[in-house]
Amino acid sequence: MLSREDNQLLTDTNPGSPMGELFRRFWLPVIMSEELPGPDSVPLRVRVMGEDLIAFRDTDGGVGLVDAYCPHRGAPMFFGRNEENGLRCVYHGWKFDVNGECVDLPNAPEGDTFRHKIHIKSYPCQDKGDLIWAYMGPAEKKPAFPDFEWTKLPRSHRYVTKFVEQCNYLQAMEGDYDPSHARFLHSTMDQSTATGSANGAPGPGRNNPQGEMAANEPYPRAVGTRRVTAANANTAQPRGGGLSAKLVDFEQAMLSAQVTETGDGKYQANVGVTWWMPLFCTAGISMPGHFASNMRIPVDNESLLFYRLRWSWEPITQEQLAEYKTGGYTHPELIPGTWTPKANLQNDYNIDRVAQKYFSYTGIKTFPLQDIALIEAQWGPVSHHWEEHLVSSDYMIIYVRRRLIKAAKELANGIEPVGPSRPDVYRFHREIAIGNTPEEAIEAAKTAGMRPLLPERLPQLVVA
Ligand code: FES
Ligand SMILES: [Fe+2]
Repeated sequence: MLSREDNQLLTDTNPGSPMGELFRRFWLPVIMSEELPGPDSVPLRVRVMGEDLIAFRDTDGGVGLVDAYCPHRGAPMFFGRNEENGLRCVYHGWKFDVNGECVDLPNAPEGDTFRHKIHIKSYPCQDKGDLIWAYMGPAEKKPAFPDFEWTKLPRSHRYVTKFVEQCNYLQAMEGDYDPSHARFLHSTMDQSTATGSANGAPGPGRNNPQGEMAANEPYPRAVGTRRVTAANANTAQPRGGGLSAKLVDFEQAMLSAQVTETGDGKYQANVGVTWWMPLFCTAGISMPGHFASNMRIPVDNESLLFYRLRWSWEPITQEQLAEYKTGGYTHPELIPGTWTPKANLQNDYNIDRVAQKYFSYTGIKTFPLQDIALIEAQWGPVSHHWEEHLVSSDYMIIYVRRRLIKAAKELANGIEPVGPSRPDVYRFHREIAIGNTPEEAIEAAKTAGMRPLLPERLPQLVVA
């Protein structure tokens, strides 16, 4: 259980907070590239970790992310003219480039000399992987860009979009390494309806392929074989990061290892990454051969923008793209012209109680909405983590909280986090390896997982 102090530490990312300072040591996506479609395009309001900013793309294509307010007399830069490599405040004409330098101060005779003393707050940006990333920490601590290989692939190999969630980043992110929720939240009632018997006993179905039910199960429709017992704990969640997975501490990441005996006295370890410091996750359904990346960037402490990505070493086909856009497995339908889901907290996610009674576990359409509905209001937009009762299946949640608290406290005491100086860790990919012991197999998979894949998969993209 978290103390109220640690809860505050974990959930507050506003400027000056310990977690806010930790997050500001990393490159983070702050808008989609398409939101600044071309040189001198319309400036954009951006709010990140409680800071109000304006993003713009200058005449040469460079991206600026500056204070929302002009340093002269605080007028809104949103109304600025984006022209000739700079954003000009339209109140008295002061103009700033993407680095925050004042390049013109035309309303006073001392402007040509005084302007050199004037800067607008500005953060360095990089346009990578269809996202604009910003570094919002101290200039002298700016790290190398994390080695996410998907950021180096052509646009045709990615599908990325975003949507708003009306809650704190932590409770949203924790859904990605919460292995016991899917068999309830994302399931259907088919074990007791279409193929079930007339008396309500479960028949074979997607969640119950053998049509079996636990002995003495008093709640077959709602629980049935979803129940996790000591006997089935190892098979309750076969996907990576499940209940049976071994958690492996690794540099700036949380790895999950599934270890099995090979039959000839050796062990096989299947090792993947579940979370990288401080907020990069990999959970989610994707097409065969595709990979997921989830990034929840705090807008403030009570809302976030969820950048959700699918990528592949092969170009994503039109059919696959259409499925991602409309299939309901990964991205909710949005209100046109906004990043807000049509079904949301204000309309109870359009829950259908008839569907819930007979067909789906929740009555809420689409997987992402099911997650969002159970995440956005956990005692409210900032969960009362000190009131929780965690169990063994919450082991990854406990682990990540400890890592974040430790890193934030260390930084507050002057110890820099390791993550920003290890960009190579961010290219870690799933690998399977064999060893004489479980530990040996895991170590071999870890070493293989750090190998860059880009040169062998798409050598034409690697410039010597
Ligand atoms: S307030 Fe912006 S130029 Fe005066
Ligand atoms: Fe989920």
